[in-house]
Amino acid sequence: MLIKRVHARQVLDSRGNPTVWAEVLTQKGAFSAMVPSGASTGKHEALELRDKDSAFGGNGVQKAVSNVNNQISKAVSGKDFSSQKELDDALIKLDGTKNKSNLGANAMLGISMSYTRALAAEKGIAVYDLVAQIAGQKRPLLPIPQLNVLNGGKHAGKENDIQEHMLMPMNFSSFSDALQAGAETYHVLKKMLKKKFGSQATLLGDEGGFVPPMENVEDRLELMLLACEEAGYGKKISIALDCASSEFFENGKYSIGAKSFSAGELSDFYAGLVEKFGIVSIEDGMAEDDWQGWKELNSKLGKKIQLVGDDLLVTNVERMKTAIEEKACNSLLLKVNQIGTVSESIDAALLAKRSNWSTVVSHRSGETEDAFIADLVVGLGCGQSKFGAPARSERVAKYNRLLQIEPQLARESVFSARILRG
Ligand code: PGA
Ligand code: ZN
Repeated sequence: MLIKRVHARQVLDSRGNPTVWAEVLTQKGAFSAMVPSGASTGKHEALELRDKDSAFGGNGVQKAVSNVNNQISKAVSGKDFSSQKELDDALIKLDGTKNKSNLGANAMLGISMSYTRALAAEKGIAVYDLVAQIAGQKRPLLPIPQLNVLNGGKHAGKENDIQEHMLMPMNFSSFSDALQAGAETYHVLKKMLKKKFGSQATLLGDEGGFVPPMENVEDRLELMLLACEEAGYGKKISIALDCASSEFFENGKYSIGAKSFSAGELSDFYAGLVEKFGIVSIEDGMAEDDWQGWKELNSKLGKKIQLVGDDLLVTNVERMKTAIEEKACNSLLLKVNQIGTVSESIDAALLAKRSNWSTVVSHRSGETEDAFIADLVVGLGCGQSKFGAPARSERVAKYNRLLQIEPQLARESVFSARILRG
């Protein structure tokens, strides 16, 4: 497909920080995408290029925008690329670094995602169908959503804290039923919090979850289970955590609230939570470079629950290969901007599949109204999404896109009511 022209602009994300909007023009029209941005960013992620000047407190992305409008534009405008991979490989070659620090992963991803949309239009198919074709996935699937209803840690201005407490409506026959159960439970939880602590406790964190004055993780989980009961769903909804523990790891110790844990003690703490609250998935239970801690955790809980690597893996097949060899975890958190191209993101999902791991396609805490990742999760057919609370438009945009896709899928492909491995 011939690219006529590309260009980019600086726009704002859900935290009011600048991000990249990029557009690819072909004979079929104009196709654009916006790039997300994290707060509890992994050390090994591809580089998000920020201007570090006086504008927006240094957070401007005009350099990345200029890289699209100049270097990338020169390399791809007027050129014919036969596939997503050919385009992405050209971007990777042009950048020429391991961590995309030359062009910026934000510049590259904006063009990569726009190209996916352009290519789908060229073929006259939906973006999720194109992703499925590229990934060799016969059955597009709607995901089980992980809904982040209580925000902590960096997303809620807190330190030494578990970051995400999520509802996983697992036992439903359709995505829309699962989402409804999640949204209803979210509202029940809101009422309970208001009654217990007043309206202030129902203010929202970065991912749309509540930030109540509850410091103890067990109290939070207790309340979530109560909300599930009161909403009438009980055990049909399970609980998942993203501890984002790199944020509370220092000098070999993990600090949650006033407590300090060794990796072994922390594994025991998690095992207790799994037992007591029926937790089915824990993300970043250990810190990004604590391989020993991850191995310990995986040998303790890996047969029982899903252990998701986010900062550990950063959607990078090289880090995944180490994790597979080391038996460090059993699930990939897939974030497109951690690696910077659509092809490499799909490669990561394929490696997870070959390794009999599950994959969770994830948003970032800084998002936009772009719902690309909704098509991505369906096309990959990996069966799990992490798109935040069922509130705030940058989160809901993804859920609403999934609701639009739902009736387009064949009856037998509609929902994956279990955690898919491989
Ligand atoms: P982030 O948080 O986007 O701020 O990195 C999301 C996560 O840790 O999964
Ligand atoms: Zn995470």
